[in-house]
Amino acid sequence: MRKIFIQTFGCQMNERDSERVLALALACGYREASSPEEADLIVVNTCTVRRKPEHKAYSLLGRFGRLKEKRPWLRIAVVGCLAQQEGERLLERFPQVDLVIGPDRIEEFPEALLKSEEGQRFCLVGFKEDPSQRVLLPPHLGVKAYVNIMQGCDNYCAYCIVPYVRGPEKSRPSEEILQEVRLLAERGVKEVTLLGQNVNSYGKKTPGELSFVQLLRKISEIPGIERIRFTTSHPKDLSEELIGAFKDIPQLCEHIHLPFQAGSDRVLKRMKRGYSREEYLRKIERLREVVPGIAITADVMVGFPGETEEDFQETLGLIEKVRFDNLFSFKYSTRKGTLASRWPDDVPPPEKQRRLEELQALQRKITLEKNKSLQGKLMEVLVEGFGERPGQLRGRTRCNRVVNFVGPRDLMGRIVWVRITEGLQNSLRGELPWEAKEAVCA
Ligand code: SAH
Ligand code: SF4
Ligand code: F3S
Repeated sequence: MRKIFIQTFGCQMNERDSERVLALALACGYREASSPEEADLIVVNTCTVRRKPEHKAYSLLGRFGRLKEKRPWLRIAVVGCLAQQEGERLLERFPQVDLVIGPDRIEEFPEALLKSEEGQRFCLVGFKEDPSQRVLLPPHLGVKAYVNIMQGCDNYCAYCIVPYVRGPEKSRPSEEILQEVRLLAERGVKEVTLLGQNVNSYGKKTPGELSFVQLLRKISEIPGIERIRFTTSHPKDLSEELIGAFKDIPQLCEHIHLPFQAGSDRVLKRMKRGYSREEYLRKIERLREVVPGIAITADVMVGFPGETEEDFQETLGLIEKVRFDNLFSFKYSTRKGTLASRWPDDVPPPEKQRRLEELQALQRKITLEKNKSLQGKLMEVLVEGFGERPGQLRGRTRCNRVVNFVGPRDLMGRIVWVRITEGLQNSLRGELPWEAKEAVCA
């Protein structure tokens, strides 16, 4: 039987797309390979949001190309955002590549595979107008799952390639989303994360469609769904209604990922983000007024064209003010075709590196302090897997922190109360409170 190996880069949307590719391949009779060396089909699911993941994809294509010298029947498919960006050029530059499939064409994977097995090499890119997506459940279903609710983005932030490689924003029909969530719940999924580049604008372009908050309410009515998360939110579209939803939808976890990108108005304006520093801070204040203790994470970048030391200090100042629970921070890299690519990439690489390190050191300190402040608290944890040490289980709090604690295996997939004993840099340690231990032993 033929075997498939999938290598994934990029965001959660790409991870979800890899699950869809795998589901389709398994339906075509493939089995999963445990390494690229034993695969008959290798799929590289690519990301092009920064230079680094793009280069990683190219170097993997080189490595997989060498495997093909030993296994000439091996087929290599490039899917994802680099596939959309480069299209036919990938076939021209890399003779080892058989198939190139853009993110909006994944459902055509089985037909494409069939043709490539007949020896054809080809490329399927571009965007469909139809916002529907087949319900394809992840082959390895655990206790939590991702659900796509929209594709693409209309924001065109000056630095960002996503609108070009994922196409215009379109919302998946709510009926389809609800059907998928119902099926997931029937199979034991307790937590869903709704995915989109800008989930706050769900349904806005489709007359008669539910709004994002209405969609959240409908999902919360599905029996078995105990936790709901979503990502990503755009600060300019974060409405009072959504902030209020945290209060009255009990399944909605107290965590929001709200990228701010920069702390200086001058930079935010040139990035075309559509909000000011003050407006961002005001939204954070509202979130904390309505949902005290809500965990807030974000994306930020350093070294955007024209970013001065003063601008950078404003970014640090914003981080100190908000005290994020965690941050994903990046060095700006020019993306071909974006507005910012017309401007000189004028912050020298060593300076970008220095700014990144300074920012990360500050955030590490804040993250550790915040994790330590949870010591002694009883927190609700969804048990997802085994911990790092023997006998340990691993789970997540509603505020999205990883907790390792000793407990019996039959707690797997269940929601339990855990007392936090130690806040570490990247996770928490905990223990089952004695009341729970008694209940477990009884
Ligand atoms: N839709 C999300 C972000 C998607 S991209 C949003 O609007 O926030 C994920 C993150 O990559 C971005 O938040 C940004 O911080 C970073 N990023 C995007 N383009 C980049 C670039 N050209 N250079 C460096 N980082 C970039
Ligand atoms: Fe990129 Fe901006 Fe769209 Fe996010 S909102 S995907 S950063 S263009
Ligand atoms: Fe990367 Fe595409 Fe996601 S460029 S971040 S994989 S949308």
